[in-house]
Amino acid sequence: MLIEDHVAKIEAKISKEVEKAAKRFADFDEKMFRSTNARVLEYQQKIDDINNRFKQALEAGDLAAVKQLILDLEIVCPVSGTRNWTDVRQFNLMFATQLGSVTDESSTIYLRPETAQGIFVNFLNVQKSGRMKIPFGIAQTGKAFRNEIVARQFIFRMREFEQMEMQYFVKPGTEMEWYEFWKEKRMKWHRSLGLGESNYRFHDHLKLAHYANAACDIEFQFPFGFKELEGIHSRTDFDLSNHEKYSGRKLQYFDTEENRSYVPYVVETSIGLDRLFLAILSTAYNEETLEDGSTRTVLRIHPALAPVKCAVLPLVKKDGLPEVARKIMDELMPDYLCQYDEKDAIGKRYRRQDAIGTPFCITIDHQTLQDETVTLRYRDSMQQERLSSTQLKEKLSSQLSLSHLLTKL
Ligand code: GAP
Repeated sequence: MLIEDHVAKIEAKISKEVEKAAKRFADFDEKMFRSTNARVLEYQQKIDDINNRFKQALEAGDLAAVKQLILDLEIVCPVSGTRNWTDVRQFNLMFATQLGSVTDESSTIYLRPETAQGIFVNFLNVQKSGRMKIPFGIAQTGKAFRNEIVARQFIFRMREFEQMEMQYFVKPGTEMEWYEFWKEKRMKWHRSLGLGESNYRFHDHLKLAHYANAACDIEFQFPFGFKELEGIHSRTDFDLSNHEKYSGRKLQYFDTEENRSYVPYVVETSIGLDRLFLAILSTAYNEETLEDGSTRTVLRIHPALAPVKCAVLPLVKKDGLPEVARKIMDELMPDYLCQYDEKDAIGKRYRRQDAIGTPFCITIDHQTLQDETVTLRYRDSMQQERLSSTQLKEKLSSQLSLSHLLTKL
């Protein structure tokens, strides 16, 4: 991470050069600029040299060379400011614990550092009971535990966290096609969340994990820089073969088209639920100054993801408006999580809903009593429109449904 952060700083210098040049030239060609500008090329050369040395050292397991690289780059500890580094050492990232009451060697077990293995051991159960044909995927969410050396940056890195993983089983030899397929699909999925196209990038792994023949991360621009949000790995048949080997039970798929059995290859997508939450929350949270000089806190979260979908607000606490509002609330509650609020002035109530990301406020006023129309206020634009109750239901279902996101994929 120290070396990666150092590289990220040089990358940031390149981005600054690109930004400056883009402002100077009207018909700016970024690709051309990156491949010809002397300063950018010099920075890029530095990055390539560092990455080559880093990769060689990791592949050879040469930890002394990793330390030498840190010293040569004059990397300073971001916490203490010292350059007085200890030797680089291997850490065991797995949490050990004891099973049962007899604490001898044989009862040592490890908390899972990824959810993936549960999927591998159940692969045949799921394939047979679901009558699945390859290619197909099994997805799961669950806890994972890692003995992280430093757990920090709010919920970005924790020792107990939640993963959402999918193992996609494919015919051997087709894994690279599927790896590219899932890279594209997952990036599209992220972009559909509306957090900003330029906030994502791919980062190929310099050193592959023991199980992978290709691997990359989808990185997101968190408030503290571009960091890993999701990992996509081509895991070969490493996991299934090893489960076969150590359990003595076959984990093979009979391919009826080829009339043969084989151990499938696997492409994995693995995302941290907590990191996704942090990405959404940190990007959606905004403090804005409005045209009239007042300020508001607004959580610009995609309507399909917003925890509270709408607020039902009687304009005043009398004249029968609360009763009508309650009735509308009762009609909406089976489909949407709604909040009812009649306390304080309407403007203050809007602000409360803006701050928790409620995409729609439904206001009941005296006109509602006459023609059964309500006003619908949009969180982001603060625009309002008058709608009948049928129009209201249509509007809500078209904007709030998850299919709104998923059909874009
Ligand atoms: N099964 C493959 C695997 O676990 P990984 O890249 O080590 O791959 C996948 O982890 C995802 O899990 C990461 O992209 C990240 O979102 C999340 N993650 C990993 N370690 C984490 C930690 N200590 N705290 C929070 N999330 C973490």
